[in-house]
Amino acid sequence: MALETCRTAATDYLDFLAAWVKKPRQTASVVPSSRYLAQLMVRGLDPADGRVMELGGGTGVFTRAILATGLPAEKLEVVEINPGFARSLRRHFPRASILEVPAQSVSSHAAGERGSYQMVVSGLPLLAMDKSLHIAILSEAFAMLRPGGSFVQFTYSVRPPVSKTILDMLDLDVSRVGHTVRNFPPATVFRFTRRSE
Ligand SMILES: C[S@@+](CC[C@H](N)C(=O)[O-])C[C@H]1O[C@@H](n2cnc3c(N)ncnc32)[C@H](O)[C@@H]1O
Repeated sequence: MALETCRTAATDYLDFLAAWVKKPRQTASVVPSSRYLAQLMVRGLDPADGRVMELGGGTGVFTRAILATGLPAEKLEVVEINPGFARSLRRHFPRASILEVPAQSVSSHAAGERGSYQMVVSGLPLLAMDKSLHIAILSEAFAMLRPGGSFVQFTYSVRPPVSKTILDMLDLDVSRVGHTVRNFPPATVFRFTRRSE
């Protein structure tokens, strides 16, 4: 690993740990996700197929993987509620749009039109959130997604982090994208789509 990459990784780890000490439930992990998990999260993203939204950008591991697909930075919006992470995301990804707002109200802040996004990549700690927040976040995300668009979410459990009752209520299907042990802790990625599509 090059010296500069090493330094960035070390800073990311320290920033993450500091955020976790301050707000453990909101940060939900003591370390950022790995690049192996990031690669699973962006599987199926087509860089030529329109806007992408990322929820819970943190130190930017998924942001980097999204842009590495070749998606133009202007087509990416990253939602991050922690002001320190939001500041650092703006510094590292100046051409992407960083929205310092809660994911559950993103539709009033996004630059793209409702129903125009191909994918929402979520690093949010859904397991640490209650059911009403799951409903609010998924409803907002699907309001932004176009027909056929998908909401991609990782979890440290082997089961989807959203209950069947909520999936039925919102008319959503879920499928497993993959699992990686090259992450701490090991993680599984799920894709949520509208049932009628
Ligand atoms: C588990 S960390 C994941 C960070 C990064 N995506 C990664 O995988 O390393 C969760 C992130 O979601 C952010 N977050 C938590 N609740 C949020 C909310 N309601 N709206 C926006 N961001 C939120 C936290 O500040 C944190 O950066």
